[in-house]
Amino acid sequence: MTKAGWTLDDIAWERFDPSKVDQNILMAVKAASVVEYNAPDYVGYLKAVFPDDAALHQTFEQWGREETQHGDALARWVKLADPTFDFEKTFAAFRAGYQPPHFDGADGSVRGSPRGELIARCVVESGTTSYYSALRDATVEPVLKQIVSHIAGDEMRHWKLFYDLQQAQPELSFWRKLKIAAGRLGEAEDDELAYAYYCANTPIERIGIDPYDRKACAKAYETRLLRVWRPQHLQRAIGMVAIAIGMKPRSWVARGAAKLIWTAVKFKNRHAMKAEARAANRGGVPLARAA
Ligand SMILES: [Fe+2]
Ligand SMILES: [Fe+2]
Repeated sequence: MTKAGWTLDDIAWERFDPSKVDQNILMAVKAASVVEYNAPDYVGYLKAVFPDDAALHQTFEQWGREETQHGDALARWVKLADPTFDFEKTFAAFRAGYQPPHFDGADGSVRGSPRGELIARCVVESGTTSYYSALRDATVEPVLKQIVSHIAGDEMRHWKLFYDLQQAQPELSFWRKLKIAAGRLGEAEDDELAYAYYCANTPIERIGIDPYDRKACAKAYETRLLRVWRPQHLQRAIGMVAIAIGMKPRSWVARGAAKLIWTAVKFKNRHAMKAEARAANRGGVPLARAA
């Protein structure tokens, strides 16, 4: 795993090779840069969940700085791959159109308890670890490979951070934890990723004019992620979520869930690619132009 505490100066930017940029990966990375850069809002929310713990606030702030740096590094790479990409304007458009209700003067966790909140964070960090590991293994562009290797290492450390923190909180029943984890997984298709994808892959002057179709954008983003996902990445994510809710990562339930999800992923992926090919034949779908 890569070391903690890396900076943008550790990246060998001069090794960038435009001939090795994959357009599908580029579209996904554009959206990811926006979501990562939005971390300060989550820091504020997490502080409100643990209002009286100054040491924890510092921990959250450091975590937020690392997430923001992920956004910074990805945006800088995107700028090399697509010099027309205006990150500042894209990010401003995303901020103007997306604000989860629980960030608005939040008081307490939307997961019902501080431990529930930390479990939900573990689920997110499991997903990001899996996602950036998949990108690292899939991309042949050397600069992106180096960036996402660093990020995957950070996400794994973040998972461990939230896992350790949740151990210090009052225990919840297994079913309660399972429900929280399943609920957070279900939010993967909510507005945040879909709207980030829309803003990052629509020309700035067309944002707000070209219709935003949440379902289509969520699907387009998901399709780009699934193309690089392999069974080992899924297995890792399932194992990390299983540990977070107190299950054995290699238990038959976890292995069975991984098999089932992988079958669904393959099916969904095939279906989504066919749908995109059909749409392309009809003249192209918005937001899949560069595919
Ligand atoms: Fe991140
Ligand atoms: Fe993270």
